[in-house]
Amino acid sequence: MTANDYMQREDRYGAHNYHPLPVVLEKGEGVYVWDVDGKKYFDFLSAYSAVNQGHCHPKIINAMIEQAKTLTLTSRAFYNNVLGEFEEYVTKYFGYDKVLPMNTGAEADETAIKLCRKWAYTKKGIAENQAKIIVCEGNFHGRTTTIVSFSTDPTAKDGFGPFTPGFVTIPYNDLNALEKALEDPNVAGFLVEPIQGEAGVYVPDEGYLKKASEMCKAKNVLFIADEVQTGIARTGQMLACDHEDVHPDILILGKAISGGAMPVSAVLADDDIMLCIKPGEHGSTFGGNPVAAKVAIAALEVIKEEKLTENAERLGKIFRDEMKKIKSDRVEVVRGKGLLNAVVIKPLEGKTAWDVCLALRDNGLLAKPTHDHIIRFAPPLVINQEQLMQAVEIIKKTILDMDK
Ligand SMILES: Cc1ncc(COP(=O)(O)O)c(C=O)c1O
Repeated sequence: MTANDYMQREDRYGAHNYHPLPVVLEKGEGVYVWDVDGKKYFDFLSAYSAVNQGHCHPKIINAMIEQAKTLTLTSRAFYNNVLGEFEEYVTKYFGYDKVLPMNTGAEADETAIKLCRKWAYTKKGIAENQAKIIVCEGNFHGRTTTIVSFSTDPTAKDGFGPFTPGFVTIPYNDLNALEKALEDPNVAGFLVEPIQGEAGVYVPDEGYLKKASEMCKAKNVLFIADEVQTGIARTGQMLACDHEDVHPDILILGKAISGGAMPVSAVLADDDIMLCIKPGEHGSTFGGNPVAAKVAIAALEVIKEEKLTENAERLGKIFRDEMKKIKSDRVEVVRGKGLLNAVVIKPLEGKTAWDVCLALRDNGLLAKPTHDHIIRFAPPLVINQEQLMQAVEIIKKTILDMDK
C-alpha cells in the first residue's frame, strides 16, 4: 500500500472529525518518527505533549509488556496488587493525599468538575444545583458535552447543545475579571490552564497564577489546574504551576503521565476534597488498571531519571532565541515556556501556517497549526541540543525558502 492508500482508507472508513497533515507514520523512537516510505522526521508535536519521554521509551514499554503478561484489568470491583503502588507513588510525587485515576484528559476534567461540585454542596454549603465554576475564554479541556458547554470556540461547541449550565466565563489572564466573578457566593471553583495550549500557547503574565490562587483561597473557592498539556515537565518545571509556587486544590493530569503509551489520566486532591466522592458516585472500568498503573510509574520515573524538566527549561530558551532570530516577515510572534512554544505565522502571498507545516514535513519536521495561524512546536523532552539545533535549521530554512 502507498501513503495515499492509507490516507484514503482512513478517509473512507473513519469519521471526519480530524484534518491530519498528509503523512502516514509507522514507527517512532525518541524524538523521531518514520513514515511508511521510511522517511525520518523530527516529531515537534509529541502527540499534543503526550510523548514527553520520547516515542516508545524502552523503560515504559517494558513496564507495559511485563504487566500486560501478568494482569491487565480487574476493574475496581476488586483490589489488585499494583494500583496502590501507583497511588502511593503519584500522590507522594505531587504532594497530595489522594488520587483518582481515569483514562483521558477530558475524563479527568469531568472528574474535577464533579468533585468540585460535590465539595461545594457537602463542604462549602452551596444550595443544591447552584454551584458555579469559573472558566476562561479560549479554554480547551476536552470534547465531552459538559466540557464543550463552556468552550468559547464555535468549532468545538456549535451544534452540540443543549449545554450543561453552571459555568461562568471570564477573559484569560484577567485578575480584575476574576475578582468580580469571585464575588458570587455560589462560585465553587476556578478551572484554568496554566498556559492555554490548544488556544495557541498563551502564557499568562508572571504572577497571574499565584495571585489567582490566592484570590480563590480568600473566597473559599477551589483553584483547579488543568495540567493535562502543561504538566509532566513540558514547560521546564514538573508542573507549569511550579513556576509560581502554586499548589492547586485540584490538579488534573493526563497525556504524558503515561509517556504517550496508553490513555492514563489522574485527578489529585487532599482528603478534605477527594473524600467528598463516595463509593458508587464516580468511576471508570479502565481507570487505574494495572497496566496503566505500571506504565505511569515508569513514565514519571523517566522524567526524574533523565532530568527532562531541566532539559525542557534549557532547550526551550535556546529554541525561542533561535526562532526570534529568523529574519522573515512571516514570523509574527514567538512565545512559550520550556518546550511548549508557538510561532505565530503571518499569512503572506496566500501562504498560511498550514503551508508552512507542509513545507516543514517535506524538510523532515512534523508540526501542526492550531487556529489557522499558529504553529505549536513541542518536541519530546528527550531531545538533545544537537538535535534541537538540527530542527531549528529545518524551521529556519523552510521559512526563508518560502520568502524566496
Ligand atoms: C489542557 C487540556 N485539557 C484536556 C485535554 C483533553 O485531553 P484528552 O484529549 O486526553 O481527552 C487536552 C487535550 O489536548 C488539553 O490540552
